[in-house]
Amino acid sequence: MAETASQTGHNIHQMILGNQSTAVLLFDEALQVHYLNNAGEMLLGISARAAMGQSAAHLLRCPGVEGLASYLQLALQSDQPISKRETPLLLSDGREIIVDCTLMSLLDEQSNRCVLAEVRQIDLQLRLNREEQLINQNDATRELVRGLAHEIKNPLGGLRGAAQLLAMELDNSALTEYTQVIIDEADRLQLLVDQLLGPRKIPLNKAVNIHHILEHVRSVVSASTANQITIQRDYDPSIPDLQGDPDQLIQAFLNILQNSAQAAGDKGTIQLKTRIQRHFTLANKNYPLVLQVDVTDDGPGIPAKLKNKVFYPMVTGRAEGTGLGLSIAQSLINRHAGLIEFSSSPGNTVFTIYLPLEQSL
Ligand SMILES: Nc1ncnc2c1ncn2[C@@H]1O[C@H](COP(=O)(O)OP(=O)(O)OP(=O)(O)O)[C@@H](O)[C@H]1O
Ligand SMILES: [Mg+2]
Repeated sequence: MAETASQTGHNIHQMILGNQSTAVLLFDEALQVHYLNNAGEMLLGISARAAMGQSAAHLLRCPGVEGLASYLQLALQSDQPISKRETPLLLSDGREIIVDCTLMSLLDEQSNRCVLAEVRQIDLQLRLNREEQLINQNDATRELVRGLAHEIKNPLGGLRGAAQLLAMELDNSALTEYTQVIIDEADRLQLLVDQLLGPRKIPLNKAVNIHHILEHVRSVVSASTANQITIQRDYDPSIPDLQGDPDQLIQAFLNILQNSAQAAGDKGTIQLKTRIQRHFTLANKNYPLVLQVDVTDDGPGIPAKLKNKVFYPMVTGRAEGTGLGLSIAQSLINRHAGLIEFSSSPGNTVFTIYLPLEQSL
């Protein structure tokens, strides 16, 4: 039997909806699922058949905040489309994702109200934006620090030399005490500037086993906290070697772990976890294999006012801190084509270090 024009139209609509990369859901007036396309099945991890008739409140659960379901209710009563950006969505397997969502009220063929929801997962885009921001921020600070350090170093050398010459001319020890103050302070400033510039040695390019690095850092931190702190390990032993400079990697992980130990305190717990990520994008480049190290502590978390700037040099929340640890760690990991990120809430701070494998410096 020949297909009618309306059947052909129907098939085309089915084909378009079925192949769209955006999840499309249709809810009836009672806010129960009436339709779910393939992308929706993939996103929510549920078949269209199983989803049919389920309530929006159940299917589109949001952790801790007013759920998308309440916006569906709003959309049902509104003539205007409603857009919700960066909304968390809790999946049935317990994973939490971030979505952008557009909700629009429609009338079906029987003039019943229904709501069309288009849902797009945006975690990856958010992560890429955040990464780009981190890298730009780090590049800009490094540029600034390099320029400033150069401007400080030259006059500083002159100042120190002049104080030394003056000291040689003075035979009054009360006065040489003053020149010694100038020399000591110039040395202190020189040290700070050198630290700000970070290591300037040409990095080595050796095969490095990440677990050797982590075990080394673990023993240093354990010893410095008199074995009070608990450091748990969850290593994936199948991780291959990476190419890099072992000393620089030790320095980077040490800076991170020291912070975790300081935050967690004597009775605290730190966890070191290593995993492999496949086909992972770092700084807009796709790598077949990327090493992920999570350093988690149960301390009070990063103070809210520092969250946007912990990777800047001289930013510290500790009275005795210089605020250089994380800025140096980020530079060292960037040199290995990697990246450091964090997420932090009270009792759970995770610093995640990504390092591409099979990558030369
Ligand atoms: N795991 C963490 N938990 C809570 N706060 C943290 C953590 N890691 C870093 N911070 C905060 O970020 C700030 C900056 O850390 P960073 O290592 O750059 O400098 P610092 O530790 O203050 O000084 P130092 O140069 O001695 O390392 C810390 O002072 C602290 O307030
Ligand atoms: Mg530190």
